[in-house]
Amino acid sequence: MTASQKVVITGGASGIGLTLARRFLARGDQVALCDADPGALAQVRQSFPEVIAAQADVTDEAAIGAFLAQIETQWGQVDVVCSNAGSSGPAGPIEDLAFDDWQACIGVNLHGAFLTCRWAARMMKAQGAGLILLTSSTSGLFGCPLRSPYVAAKWGLIGLTKTLAMELGPFGVRVNAICPGAVEGSRMDRVLAIEAEASGKTPQQVRAQYTGGVSLRSFVSGDDIADTVLFLASPAAAKITGQAMTIDGHTESMV
Ligand SMILES: NC(=O)c1ccc[n+]([C@@H]2O[C@H](COP(=O)([O-])OP(=O)(O)OC[C@H]3O[C@@H](n4cnc5c(N)ncnc54)[C@H](O)[C@@H]3O)[C@@H](O)[C@H]2O)c1
Repeated sequence: MTASQKVVITGGASGIGLTLARRFLARGDQVALCDADPGALAQVRQSFPEVIAAQADVTDEAAIGAFLAQIETQWGQVDVVCSNAGSSGPAGPIEDLAFDDWQACIGVNLHGAFLTCRWAARMMKAQGAGLILLTSSTSGLFGCPLRSPYVAAKWGLIGLTKTLAMELGPFGVRVNAICPGAVEGSRMDRVLAIEAEASGKTPQQVRAQYTGGVSLRSFVSGDDIADTVLFLASPAAAKITGQAMTIDGHTESMV
């Protein structure tokens, strides 16, 4: 049995982040989330009035800072921070990629994690406890042609995880990365569409390429991810830190 925890989730108004919010709430935890999408936030406020749901872009230092400062004032402590906000970025050969698109992808996936972790580290070090979870990807463990900005950002998050686990471990703070495989849902449908366009294949062919490289021959669900996250946020995982945990049916190849 896990005592009620105070949980912050970035990019929490839809997709995996929203599934995490639902599952933490169902366990009796308190949830604060931020997101850049006002429509998705409005739905969260309607469905879960008990959740603190703030508009903040994780790449905007002032906006994410204001959200995190609000949590600090309202709660005074935080037990779990899920740095989840991310976007898939452009697909294509590197010579065709625009620098703006590269920067935007690195910005949301990596700079956003930096700003979130910097705050979490300060809070948790002072508390002498806490868990930071960074959402990397199987793309943070493999090369994936035509997805260079996303892959570079997700590998970067694993480096950040390993380093922060070392910096914060002596203060009782754990830091882990989760590495989901392809997750069923609207985001993956968009990824299949842009990769299909970039490679001249159909979305169905790209999907078959993804599942063909996975031992269990399937995508994963948001709840599969949440099961692992709730485990990592439980006393059963008290000695697990510095890890990149895959939830992917075992990726053999992404090519
Ligand atoms: N879906 C997958 O197959 C998959 C696989 C591996 C890793 N991931 C990672 O999981 C995380 C969540 O992805 P998802 O599938 O739920 O995507 P999603 O697009 O369904 O949800 C992402 C949420 O983050 C929000 N967001 C995007 N940019 C933001 C920003 N700058 N500031 C604040 N919020 C922002 C979006 O509005 C959205 O609500 C991402 O880091 C993604 O890279 C997803």
